[in-house]
Amino acid sequence: MRIEGDYKADGYAVLRGLIPPELASMLFRQIKLDLEASGKSFQNFAQKHALVEKPTIEISGHFYRPLTTFLWGLTPIMSELTGADLLPSYDHFRIYHAGDTCHVHSDRPSCEHSVTLTLHYSDNQPWPIEMGTERVTGEDPYTEDWGDEPHQSVDMQPGDAILYRGMDLRHGRTQPNPNQWSAHLFLFWVERGGEFMQHAFDEERLRSELRRVSKLKV
Ligand SMILES: [Fe+2]
Repeated sequence: MRIEGDYKADGYAVLRGLIPPELASMLFRQIKLDLEASGKSFQNFAQKHALVEKPTIEISGHFYRPLTTFLWGLTPIMSELTGADLLPSYDHFRIYHAGDTCHVHSDRPSCEHSVTLTLHYSDNQPWPIEMGTERVTGEDPYTEDWGDEPHQSVDMQPGDAILYRGMDLRHGRTQPNPNQWSAHLFLFWVERGGEFMQHAFDEERLRSELRRVSKLKV
């Protein structure tokens, strides 16, 4: 792994090769195989997300334990990289399609320390994430573009990640996805003993996800 940037000073840093690209590819294939084995597919698993115009494919770690295990396993190295004593919050997998963008936004309090990890591009076309360079407070409404706001663009290859303070820095993808589709993981941590520790293991979200799924089954 190679670190680009100063997380403490800038609020984000690029983690080149957080995991080997082969591992990123195998993790993606495992998720796809498990989904198909459960009688579903990426085609019939899409749902609407507020930050993306078209339906996206989302799999929460709350319902797919390998993702939760992956999040938990990364916790020691994330504590090392952030210089904070971390507890895992939650994670999820997402597929974006061709032409998708992700509105510029800041994250909720369970995302004190955030990681976006690229797993796979269908057409090997790097799709940049954009990070604001000015700190914000609170979860402002999302915007479709940056306007005059200063920001930087970071290209990522499979296995590369960006570590960022999701609550403090706005972020998004305003360039259309140049691939037919791309697969990404989003992982979040909070600090032990910190202001947001109540979001450790994200039990509140888990309960609301369970309620949502039980309603769908009725
Ligand atoms: Fe976000």
